Amino acid sequence: MQDFLNMSIKEVIEKHPGVGSLLEEYDIGCVPCTVATCLLKDIVTIHNLPKKDEAILMYSIEKEIYPDRDVKLKEVVEEEKKEELGYSPPMQQLVDEHVHIKQMIAYIANVLELVAQDEKIDKDLILDVVRFIREYADKYHHAKEEDILFDYTDKSLEIINVILEDHVTARGHIKAVVDAVETGNKEKIVDHLTAYQSLLTEHIRKEDEILFPWIDRGLTTRQVGEIYQKFAQANQELGENLPERNLDFLESLNSKFQQQHQGGN
Ligand SMILES: [Fe+2]
Ligand SMILES: [Fe+2]
Repeated sequence: MQDFLNMSIKEVIEKHPGVGSLLEEYDIGCVPCTVATCLLKDIVTIHNLPKKDEAILMYSIEKEIYPDRDVKLKEVVEEEKKEELGYSPPMQQLVDEHVHIKQMIAYIANVLELVAQDEKIDKDLILDVVRFIREYADKYHHAKEEDILFDYTDKSLEIINVILEDHVTARGHIKAVVDAVETGNKEKIVDHLTAYQSLLTEHIRKEDEILFPWIDRGLTTRQVGEIYQKFAQANQELGENLPERNLDFLESLNSKFQQQHQGGN
């Protein structure tokens, strides 16, 4: 079974078409899916099935692949209630990305301190912060919400409009920061970075606590799988380098500001 668990789902279905029908029964649409990168072992986790269903499905798949084997049904001890609290895997991805965006929001406070203290504006530092926001928060994160996730909601709803407007307002603040760096306008840099900080803090709270749990409750198992695939595809198109270099930058800010505080500056 281990060999099959590490095989792509497409290959498994090719060898054992019955597995495709079993997945369909649980509303996991692997047969029509065009992306063949999921491994059998990840399929069930990605779709966020209740533990009991997961155990039965895995049992049925193993039975389908090895009809003569004495397959045992895995005992499920987990409480149903516990499972309800988490996000689905694609939603968890967005929540994890929020953690990094919140780290940047916290560092903006340090950047603002520097701007207030120093006579000369550290343009490179501010533009690096802008690059993180444009690349990681906007192109990598907000794009997945706007271009993929929200297609699974009613876009005429007020809450979606509020969220989309936040993205637009945030972009406006960042554009204003860039303009202010060019003209050397300290006050405007401070104003717009401060506004960005509070806007995004509240925005992330709304998504984590209200919007994402609400969207999750309305998604079918198939939709969760679809969104996961589309997220993976979107990330792949942007390349691994984008999150890597931006998370490295966060790391560098961490050491920069830690040293600064230790040095008493
Ligand atoms: Fe958002
Ligand atoms: Fe978000």
